Amino acid sequence: MQLWVKRDDLTGFGLSGNKVRKLEWLFADARARGADTVITCGGLQSNHARATAVAARRCGLDPVLLLRGDTPDPVDGNLLLDQLVDAQIHTCSAEDYASSRAELMAGIAADLRSAGRRPYVIPEGGSNGIGAIGFIRAVEELDALPPFDTIVCPVGSGGTLAGLVLGRPQAHVRGYAVCDDAPTFVSKVLAIADELKLEVPSSGWSICETFRGEAYGIASPAVWKTIAEAARTEGLLLDPTYTGKAFHGMLTEARAGLLGERILFWHTGGAFGLFGRGAEVP
Ligand SMILES: Cc1ncc(COP(=O)(O)O)c(C=O)c1O
Repeated sequence: MQLWVKRDDLTGFGLSGNKVRKLEWLFADARARGADTVITCGGLQSNHARATAVAARRCGLDPVLLLRGDTPDPVDGNLLLDQLVDAQIHTCSAEDYASSRAELMAGIAADLRSAGRRPYVIPEGGSNGIGAIGFIRAVEELDALPPFDTIVCPVGSGGTLAGLVLGRPQAHVRGYAVCDDAPTFVSKVLAIADELKLEVPSSGWSICETFRGEAYGIASPAVWKTIAEAARTEGLLLDPTYTGKAFHGMLTEARAGLLGERILFWHTGGAFGLFGRGAEVP
């Protein structure tokens, strides 16, 4: 068996991971619409929110974030980076986030407009049709390589998986859900395809929900063991929320002979999510 790793954990804008591929297209749209500010949302340690804030500064736009949870003292990980680039941060409870984040973002956008700003709203994870184009295009980068049997990625808001599926690589695409169940993400892929007026392939992709664990952001001791093993044998940094779970799921299934001979792990980044989790490292 051969395991290859697509190193999107090393992409630009402060190691943005998979997010920069979506943001490239979303920021182009924001600029084309004359925006001077971008608003997005996520958990307190959201990689997407941090990547958006850093990229916004690089592109001369002001970042505004709606984050789920209370700000700890001291701050660390992604939140520290959000503060470093001086993003305007709004926080809300997990309940308000779950029930009304779109309304809360619309409210923040309305306030900004009243203050004379021109905000552009990016949905959670950058996972809409425009964002997914980044991953449809990313599939072209595999053309130069001998074909893989399986391409693996974590699935958090669905945009990465949708793009990889709609890019129609010559390989089975297997997404490992890290929070919601498989039907939720199938619907997400269908919605993104619909937005782009593209047909979803009827086969050649699947979603595994077995390795989600207890909840979003909570990694089991087995996942932590895999994270430590990848770091100690390959110097490969995985995180407890996304890539650790997906990599662990992939290894388990690959060892059972379920993923074929040539496997590509699409490393989507997220290493800043390791910080503040020292007590869990085996
Ligand atoms: C490091 C990392 N990997 C994977 C994902 C999942 O990608 P997507 O949201 O496109 O499903 C995310 C964000 O959700 C992430 O931050």
